[in-house]
Amino acid sequence: MNILITGGAGFIGSNLAEFYQSKNHKVIIIDNLSSGNIENISFLPKNNFIEADIQDNNTLEKLFDEYNFDIIFHLAAVVSVVETIEDPFKSQKVNIESTLNLLKIIKEKNKGLKRFIFASSAAVYGNVEGLPKNMDSLISPESPYAIEKFAGEQYSKLFNKLYGVPTTGFRFFNVYGPKQNPNSTYSGVISIMQNCFENNKTFTFYGDGTQTRDFVYIKDLISAIDCAINNEITIGKTYNLGTGVETSLNKIFSEFEKIYNKKINVEYKEFRKGDIKNSVSDITPLIEQGYKPQFGISEGLESYVNFSNNNIKEKCYE
Ligand SMILES: NC(=O)c1ccc[n+]([C@@H]2O[C@H](COP(=O)([O-])OP(=O)(O)OC[C@H]3O[C@@H](n4cnc5c(N)ncnc54)[C@H](O)[C@@H]3O)[C@@H](O)[C@H]2O)c1
Repeated sequence: MNILITGGAGFIGSNLAEFYQSKNHKVIIIDNLSSGNIENISFLPKNNFIEADIQDNNTLEKLFDEYNFDIIFHLAAVVSVVETIEDPFKSQKVNIESTLNLLKIIKEKNKGLKRFIFASSAAVYGNVEGLPKNMDSLISPESPYAIEKFAGEQYSKLFNKLYGVPTTGFRFFNVYGPKQNPNSTYSGVISIMQNCFENNKTFTFYGDGTQTRDFVYIKDLISAIDCAINNEITIGKTYNLGTGVETSLNKIFSEFEKIYNKKINVEYKEFRKGDIKNSVSDITPLIEQGYKPQFGISEGLESYVNFSNNNIKEKCYE
């Protein structure tokens, strides 16, 4: 199959790319490297990488003239919530307009498409009480990022309804795993914590560490998406993508203490304004389609640390 991954040099995209390339599919990546890293995709043939902005319509048109894609993963986005608050006009151009433009080009040019996957976010639920979050939970965005992700998933759904483009949206919860950049300010807390353990740095808790998240290991995320791609019932729908398990930051910290068999310094700062206290997904609809998370938090963290220790750049998927 021909597979296009926008934002494929980033954390999630590069893992997807490696997975599908290992299954002998042709993977093409378009990425402007704004938050991604070319080293993440060192396994990819050079000609399969296009360094370009997703807003560059000429490049997109040319790409779709050259290829007919079977699967498209649309991950390219301004991923920093802070950046979207600072300049929502700029971020909505990437996160909403480019999504709409991509869908329009697909509708016009990419006839045989089997699936368009849109990367939405648990951020759409905001801070409203009531767990676990399911597809009937209230949507209450707390940032331009969340509004933009909701718009993207809704446009994807609408293009299925209006024009039959086979789209599926996923609201990713807290994804972690190899190739996540711990030095990035928006990066997941697990990669930041792991980096502190690795380098004996002080870890900062915002609040008392009792806040919870639904942490999903990258391999589970890929298996969920792959399962949905192979199941036509999922077309035109949006799914939560987590594990359905709520884990506190304190628990993650103690798991790292066990794995590294050491203690590191911690400091406590005020709970950050706008941060969500507790979060967990209801994944029943995905389980009904055959998704079964394989990585509990201990297995996931161990696999992640193993990967980091061995600095395996290309062999996450065989
Ligand atoms: N990581 C998570 O826990 C999580 C949670 C919810 C949603 N998501 C969504 O999943 C997707 C992937 O996230 P990630 O964690 O891999 O982030 P990432 O920053 O590692 O990847 C995003 C990629 O998109 C590229 N990109 C950004 N703007 C672009 C543009 N204008 N043109 C071309 N490329 C551009 C970046 O260079 C980067 O490689 C994003 O859409 C993000 O919003 C991630």
